[in-house]
Amino acid sequence: MLMVDHTALQEDMKNADEKSSVRLFCLFLLCGFVFGYLQNVWADNAALVAQGQYVFALAGGCGCHTADKGPANAGGRPIETPYGRFYGTNITPDPVHGIGTWTDREIIDAIRLGVKPDGTVMSPVMPYPALSGMTDEDVTALVAFLRSLEPVAQENLPHEVSLPFSGLAMRVWRWLFFEPIETRAAAWTDPIARGRYISEHLAHCQECHTPRTVFGTLDRTRDLAGNPAGIDGEVAPNITPDDETGIGRWSEGEIVSLLRTGFLPNFDTVQGLMAVVIDGVPGGGYKDMTDEDADAVATYLKSIPPRSRAEQE
Ligand code: HEC
Repeated sequence: MLMVDHTALQEDMKNADEKSSVRLFCLFLLCGFVFGYLQNVWADNAALVAQGQYVFALAGGCGCHTADKGPANAGGRPIETPYGRFYGTNITPDPVHGIGTWTDREIIDAIRLGVKPDGTVMSPVMPYPALSGMTDEDVTALVAFLRSLEPVAQENLPHEVSLPFSGLAMRVWRWLFFEPIETRAAAWTDPIARGRYISEHLAHCQECHTPRTVFGTLDRTRDLAGNPAGIDGEVAPNITPDDETGIGRWSEGEIVSLLRTGFLPNFDTVQGLMAVVIDGVPGGGYKDMTDEDADAVATYLKSIPPRSRAEQE
């Protein structure tokens, strides 16, 4: 007959009980850590997305990528240039038509270097020469924001441009004229430096307001003096502090007000592409600039050399 040692058995069961309570406790603790960790990751990502949305707003809501009345950021907006008609592309995370399958590095290279994941290069109608100066922090945040967008399955339209924009010619153009700019993150204590960074590398004011050379590059000798042959056939006015042909008579407050509301000093509303970048898209536009940043842009514009209006050559 098998003798059962009841006391030993009870002792064993008690030990097993204790063991599982300890394990359960450890499991809870672990879950707590994992959950806490994930919560932090989510919170960090939410903060990064919010920061990216602000970068997106300062870039005028990347307005060329949204067609009039079309779904936001899904491309299809025609951009008329002296070289032909380009179409903004789908920058939503759609895996087929958008950037859904691109790695972060590939998206960053597209934004700052104008190179697509398949190695093809973009024409500088995509203002990568300006955006190349975006800090690593800003471009990383922008990528996080783009990834947070609703994917839209809308096909890209082929550009209707002349031959010189074919791949090889574009590579030669880049070799001759494109030099990426590196901007290190700064505390931006100097409003002029902050204003210049926003204007040049996020809001890309010069892409519309600076006239171009015969090679399609910006004519920096007439920087911001207006472009008589601007995008979409619009005349972009002189925004240097020239009293007669520029905005020398505007106060800084009037510049801030234009950027934040679209109102000109005479209370007309600004039109055309300027209205597009101010209003932006649902994700934001210049109108969402903080007061501090709008002040910085105004201070910067007031600090540049006055130039008389650029005329058609
Ligand atoms: C996508 C092209 C585009 C970009 C980018 C752009 N602008 Fe403009 N801007 C225009 C056009 C076009 C007009 C003229 C609109 C009109 O006639 O109502 C204009 C008008 C203005 C005016 C009014 C000038 C006047 O004499 O009436 C100011 C000031 C101005 N822009 C400043 C800026 C600043 C500062 C930035 C960058 C932060 C900027 N713009 C970026 C296209 C652009």
